[in-house]
Amino acid sequence: MTEIGFKDFETLESFIAKEQHLHPQSRGAFSNLLRRVGLATKIIGSKVQRAGLLNVLGSADGINVQGEQQAKLDVLANEVMRATFRWMPSISGLASEEDDDVVNLPTRLEGQGQYVVLFDPLDGSSNIDANVSVGTIFSIHRCQSTDGRCRLSDFLQPGNRQVAAGYVVYGSSTMFVYTTGSGVHGFTLDPEVGEYVLSHENIRVPDVCKCFSANDTNYKKWDEGSRRFADHVRYSGEERYKKTSSRYVGSLVSDFHRNLLYGGIFMYPADAKTGKGKLRLLYEASPLAMVIEQAGGAATTGPQRILDIVPKELHQRVPLIIGNKHEVELYEKMVKEASAK
Ligand code: AHG
Ligand code: MN
Ligand code: MN
Repeated sequence: MTEIGFKDFETLESFIAKEQHLHPQSRGAFSNLLRRVGLATKIIGSKVQRAGLLNVLGSADGINVQGEQQAKLDVLANEVMRATFRWMPSISGLASEEDDDVVNLPTRLEGQGQYVVLFDPLDGSSNIDANVSVGTIFSIHRCQSTDGRCRLSDFLQPGNRQVAAGYVVYGSSTMFVYTTGSGVHGFTLDPEVGEYVLSHENIRVPDVCKCFSANDTNYKKWDEGSRRFADHVRYSGEERYKKTSSRYVGSLVSDFHRNLLYGGIFMYPADAKTGKGKLRLLYEASPLAMVIEQAGGAATTGPQRILDIVPKELHQRVPLIIGNKHEVELYEKMVKEASAK
């Protein structure tokens, strides 16, 4: 019998179903939630891929809670996420970079509303009009409230309690990368089938520092330890850094994804004067920190592991240094030494 030529493939759907089998007590609510994230990002991706043809380029009228000018695609992506999750029985509430406060979804029945979802609906939106890759980042926590309603406290949970985290990068291909704590897995969208197909099973960050990724125009605003670390990677001549290249896209998801696959370090330290970082803990740093740790890397503020931070505010910003464990540990050591002086 001649081969028909169909090469079997594993989709996000079937992979999630297989993972569910590892938890016999599971009734599939979590699997359905993850599938919904897949659907939402396929819708967003379809708008991003045609952004120049739809009236979604440029700025929207609003300024978001971050004090940033919203891009039209920020608003659209946010609406897609909210609409896609609205009637998911297992989700009791949402938190978004684009919304001032948490959103309580319509009251769930007894025993439903087990999860809350936090997201950056469109990351890197300043790059949209120039057709540079952007992404969506998501984080899923158990809802601690048990009355089917959620409260701010359900969102202010440390990253080490996430039940799942991941992102989608809308780049030369659209890739969905996530972890539920059993490794990191990547799925490439097959536009002909409309499914995310497993393309990168069990991603491990290579122990090479191929890329150094930072917005160097902030160098003078960094603390002494951050500057020493950057100088060491770029100018020490150490064997490990002989082939390190500087790469900075300006979309966190794209810089992160490249470093996850190639090896490298991304740093966005605090502004030494204000003591504040730029990136948001709950829906940027925490989810990516879970992914990188599951892939064998690390993520820190310098003094603290990202996943151990107990959030105080919904839109809290943190310094973020994330990538190879070797570089993160070296950064922590240099920052500690510099602050001891
Ligand atoms: P967002 O578009 O969701 O606001 O995120 C933008 C972030 C992040 O994607 C990126 O790493 C960082 O802003 C770039 O900041 P600079 O332009 O200051 O380098
Ligand atoms: Mn972002
Ligand atoms: Mn954003």
